[in-house]
Amino acid sequence: MTGENKDLRKVFDEIMGEKRYETVNSCIIEIPDPFCLTVFGASGDLAQRKIIPALYRLDRDKLFPENFVILGTARTEMDDSAFRDLMHDAVKTAFPEDVDKSSWKKFSQRLYYEQIDYEQSGSFKRLRKKIISLEKKHETRGNRIFYLAVPPLVYEPVISNIGSSGLSQSDKGYTHIVIEKPIGRDLESARKLNTVLQSAFNEKQIYRMDHYLAKETVQNILMFRFANSIFEPLWNSRYIDHIQITVAETLGVEHRAGYYEKAGVLRDMFQNHIFQLLALTAMEPPSVFESERVRDEKAKVFRSIRPFPLDRIDDAVVIGQYGAGNIKGEKVPRYRDEPGVSSDSVTPTFAAVKVLIDNWRWNGVPFYLRSGKRLSVKKAEISIHFRPAPHLMFARELEESIEPNSLVMRIQPDEGISLHFQAKTPGARICMGPVLMDFAYQKVFSLNAYERVLLDCMQGDQMLFVRSDGVEETWSLLSPLIEKLEAENYPKNFPNYEAGSSGPDNTAELLSKDGRSWRAM
Ligand code: BG6
Repeated sequence: MTGENKDLRKVFDEIMGEKRYETVNSCIIEIPDPFCLTVFGASGDLAQRKIIPALYRLDRDKLFPENFVILGTARTEMDDSAFRDLMHDAVKTAFPEDVDKSSWKKFSQRLYYEQIDYEQSGSFKRLRKKIISLEKKHETRGNRIFYLAVPPLVYEPVISNIGSSGLSQSDKGYTHIVIEKPIGRDLESARKLNTVLQSAFNEKQIYRMDHYLAKETVQNILMFRFANSIFEPLWNSRYIDHIQITVAETLGVEHRAGYYEKAGVLRDMFQNHIFQLLALTAMEPPSVFESERVRDEKAKVFRSIRPFPLDRIDDAVVIGQYGAGNIKGEKVPRYRDEPGVSSDSVTPTFAAVKVLIDNWRWNGVPFYLRSGKRLSVKKAEISIHFRPAPHLMFARELEESIEPNSLVMRIQPDEGISLHFQAKTPGARICMGPVLMDFAYQKVFSLNAYERVLLDCMQGDQMLFVRSDGVEETWSLLSPLIEKLEAENYPKNFPNYEAGSSGPDNTAELLSKDGRSWRAM
């Protein structure tokens, strides 16, 4: 819809009393219909750090309907009032500035709790009764959302029990399920989980979340590419030499060794976030900006990626694990000394990967991807490196070689876009220097990633969620590589990079043997 059409639609809907809208940063946000949201794993980390705080803020900012209810459920014994207290502390910790008495009071009256055993069908029968009675009390019109914030081990029993207790289909209204990564740990387990999901729900009801897709600057990749006519003609192998995607973190494994030891960086960051960034950068323009069409184009990119050369793995992959070092002046331990990590762990915490896409647009243009923990900076960016000018008529006059153009999309922090080009330095002689044209996002109020995806799920918009084929295609690329690395117990030299550095020394070689170099971190 164009801006004008949207405004007309808004006026029409409001006159008809159908919908309510709020304007946030000159963007019109449609207030969702009444809903009943059940959070599985409500006493856990994810619910306390992300989900409940996001729900509270949406309500406080008047982006929720009058009628809604949130039912927390987990193994822990608790009554409604203990749950409300626990969530109050959680929201205060997440957003210390944002909790005010009256908004909390209003929100907390919609919070309920029910103890559950994830494996017992009897528990789900009780849950069903509870949901139906809350739906009546809060007049939520049969719209249901189930959010799985439980450990992956219990995904299957929870999903199957939701299905067999009849909760996945509502007589009126919608029923959606939100599930976060890990969606499997290889192709086989991902397929199995997708089958379990699809036996209780249909694909239109399933919201596989990737929080990177909800980042403001990630969504901007498509606007930038397809709403401007000046870049897209250059967006191909004729003008682009190569592309780099970097997602660097300063944090270590924190308290997540139980999960991370079995995952490692390729499962944790590449199969989801980094491959999603790659797909948005490489995909063809969809005919309409609509979730199925966008997800079709992303799937086509995944299907065009050349399988990794398993017989020459060093040509395409560098992996690493952090040793002790310094981050921002503070000493940090090596990965193997982190709580819960085995002292001879071979789990990689860093990877750099070269990806080739075999299609018309990207033939011969490598995508170099790197991500790791305990690196020198926290930063996520995509940089497009253009080919050098075809004929350098200035070559004789200039002593130094000229840097080709590059375009950098900064995802976080310091969100923005910069274009690096050459310009004449003022003065009499021929003298040239690199200059920078920079667009920086202002730090204005906007929805955080969880707030954004929760609203989208309530509105039935699957654009920022991953479809089953997207998950399976990325696993089918990465599973053989991960299996090969694990079977050969590949890393013999771990730890092989110092915390606070930019990764293992041989990361540079991945590009230098192609005559290229990484952007500085
Ligand atoms: C998560 C990974 O999905 O993303 C973490 O499991 C990682 O290991 C995190 O730290 C990074 O997210 P962000 O938004 O901080 O870049």
